[in-house]
Amino acid sequence: MSETRFLKIGRRLPPADLFSEAPDWQQAQPAWIEGALRHALSLPSGGWYVVDAARAIERRARRYRIAGEDYVVWRTDRGPVVAPDSCPHMGARLSDGVVREGRVVCPWHGLALGQEPHGTWRPLPVHDDGVLLWVQASGSEERTATPLLPVRPERYFAAVMRLEARCDPRDVVANRLDPWHGVHFHPHSFGRLRVLERDETTITVRVVYRIAPWLGMEVDALFDCPDPRTIVMTIIRGEGAGSVVETHATPIEPGRSAVIEATLATSERPQFHAFFRAFGGLLRPVVEKRARRLWVEDGAYAERRYELRQGS
Ligand code: FES
Ligand SMILES: [Fe+2]
Repeated sequence: MSETRFLKIGRRLPPADLFSEAPDWQQAQPAWIEGALRHALSLPSGGWYVVDAARAIERRARRYRIAGEDYVVWRTDRGPVVAPDSCPHMGARLSDGVVREGRVVCPWHGLALGQEPHGTWRPLPVHDDGVLLWVQASGSEERTATPLLPVRPERYFAAVMRLEARCDPRDVVANRLDPWHGVHFHPHSFGRLRVLERDETTITVRVVYRIAPWLGMEVDALFDCPDPRTIVMTIIRGEGAGSVVETHATPIEPGRSAVIEATLATSERPQFHAFFRAFGGLLRPVVEKRARRLWVEDGAYAERRYELRQGS
């Protein structure tokens, strides 16, 4: 797609050299993607998993499956609770119960459970970072007091989407470590995408986001992985510099993952924050729908990658 076919809006970018002039299929080297992925997988996670958008957690019981375990999740005045979904009395699913006065009431015999332990049943450590809810699940991973959060802008407009895919978290991260597929696989969203820089673990691209078929916004964006289940895109130059898209992959069970993607948009323009304060409620579903559309496609990519890894 040639540059002249776009009307570009937003801040102009300085000229930059390309990492390579080779066609995308030659630049997209599986060995580089695997190397960057291996590095991500070697990073500590602190034992934390993203559950969902913080705003998705309501005062009603809901079931989430994370790393092979079922949890009941609900919100109280003192914050969200994540606990085993099995009643300590006779094992009923607590997520089928109702929430009364901040406690989940077991549907079988009415045991009301809250933030305090009951026998061996106890809520897990949680962290609400204002955008996402995290849980620290038991497992072999070394624990930290809080999740290792990516750098976020000071002020932002946030939108979060969640969907599930038949793959492992590493397939989700690997998808985003391949920027070369962008223009070919998502022509509706990317007008042009070129790699500017690449080291062993990060990659910087100059990308034209399509706003309309003939209208685009060009930015420079850096991809890196702060933990083994997260890949972050940060706009480093151009309109909205400092904005981030955090893609988190949470294992549901082997071969099944949740993709939870948070878009945190910011701008130096003074009108930006006032605009989003006024219209954020209307715009959030639009941003979430766009992110979901990309992830329906990228989910198919990640699922195919998973299939290939299984040797099918
Ligand atoms: S199984 Fe929950 S109260 Fe009996
Ligand atoms: Fe993609």
